[in-house]
Amino acid sequence: MLTLTKTARVFSKPSKRKIHEFLRSLYYPSERFFHRVVLGIETSCDDTAAAVVDGSGHVLGEAIHSQTEVHLKTGGIVPPVAQRLHRENIERIVQQALSASHVSPNELSAIATTIKPGLALSLGVGLSYSLQLVHQFKKPFIPIHHMEAHALTIRLTNQVEFPFLVLLISGGHCLLALVRGVSDFLLLGKSLDIAPGDMLDKVARRLSLMKHPECSTMSGGKAIEHLAKQGNKLCFDIKPPMQRAKNCDFSFSGLQHVTDKIIMKKEREEGIEKGQILSSAADIAAAVQHTIACHIAKRTHRALLFCKQRDLLPQNNAVLVVSGGVASNFYIRKALEIVANATQCTLLCPPPRLCTDNGVMIAWNGIERLRAGLGILHDAKDIRYEPKCPLGIDISKEVGEAAIKVPRLKMSI
Ligand code: KG4
Ligand code: ZN
Repeated sequence: MLTLTKTARVFSKPSKRKIHEFLRSLYYPSERFFHRVVLGIETSCDDTAAAVVDGSGHVLGEAIHSQTEVHLKTGGIVPPVAQRLHRENIERIVQQALSASHVSPNELSAIATTIKPGLALSLGVGLSYSLQLVHQFKKPFIPIHHMEAHALTIRLTNQVEFPFLVLLISGGHCLLALVRGVSDFLLLGKSLDIAPGDMLDKVARRLSLMKHPECSTMSGGKAIEHLAKQGNKLCFDIKPPMQRAKNCDFSFSGLQHVTDKIIMKKEREEGIEKGQILSSAADIAAAVQHTIACHIAKRTHRALLFCKQRDLLPQNNAVLVVSGGVASNFYIRKALEIVANATQCTLLCPPPRLCTDNGVMIAWNGIERLRAGLGILHDAKDIRYEPKCPLGIDISKEVGEAAIKVPRLKMSI
């Protein structure tokens, strides 16, 4: 806290940017919301991230500390370790984002922080640190839903109006939702078990890709994408799950089980021990990635057809947004492009660095909420984090009852 007080003093004189904005606001009063500046803080999982974003979407400063390498070594996220690392890094990361932005804490319009959903121990660090800042600098607090932030990121990078369909695919989440407004979501479907990123991480661990010289520092999903480029997806026939369920839900744990069995069989055939790298690892990666892409594409296709059938999306030029860590996978994006072309939709993805967890999306969600006048707290003392929290109104049962048949598309990627 002490260091932040110092920063506040250093930048207490109005900056050039502030003077410029003040003069501009005299001429263009309708632009006054552009001068809002929000600090966003993200600690819901294993990234400690912060960013300062202004009302016109300029990223003034950002910083991130990723724990991926540590968790790769332990074979998954250990919550108390994640908590310790968040505690060790949060002050430095917030400081870095603020200093890069040349905005002092006193100049902030609000502080926005992820409070749901996520790992309890990780969320707690971000929330308690943010509440100290809120108290110290007497700023409004904007509690953020992590998935809402992922969904709205596209409005920072592209001009996208409501409504649009969003597919969020990450290590902790998998859902399809219609976005009708800043905090107005209809949930069309979600994973009934694990998320695709989690599945890819588990398969990568089972294949010991950490020991692969080209993949040692990559997340599981990235390692699978990298290796799949060298493999032949046709070597293994892995069927997509839930083919008969005409809804928009997903499932990945069965796929993981099937892949585990394939790996065990191949280990026996190749006469190698668990923990060594299979010669067929690239083929397995390619087959798994293809099956996941087909499964995700089919459920998304049905969601688009449902929304059009119910006039929830425009018939032409509807927008499909895909975000979350797994959205940085170009093979999956290509499968979704095929769906978008078949349904006359435009597919949009934020750049990879904004698909994975980051502070920019939290700050931008804060800006969106400030503009809409939604969820801005002037007294945040009763606010609590929520490890589990659904997004929007769940209409997945209605989607299933509509039982929309999806035309077969050729997935030649
Ligand atoms: O959104 P994110 O940073 O964190 C949350 O889970 O909320 O996503 C991380 C996940 C990990 O499971 C990681 O393996 C996966 O995204 N991922 C990928 C790729 N890059 C990261 N999955 C597939 N292909 C990629 N290129
Ligand atoms: Zn995320």
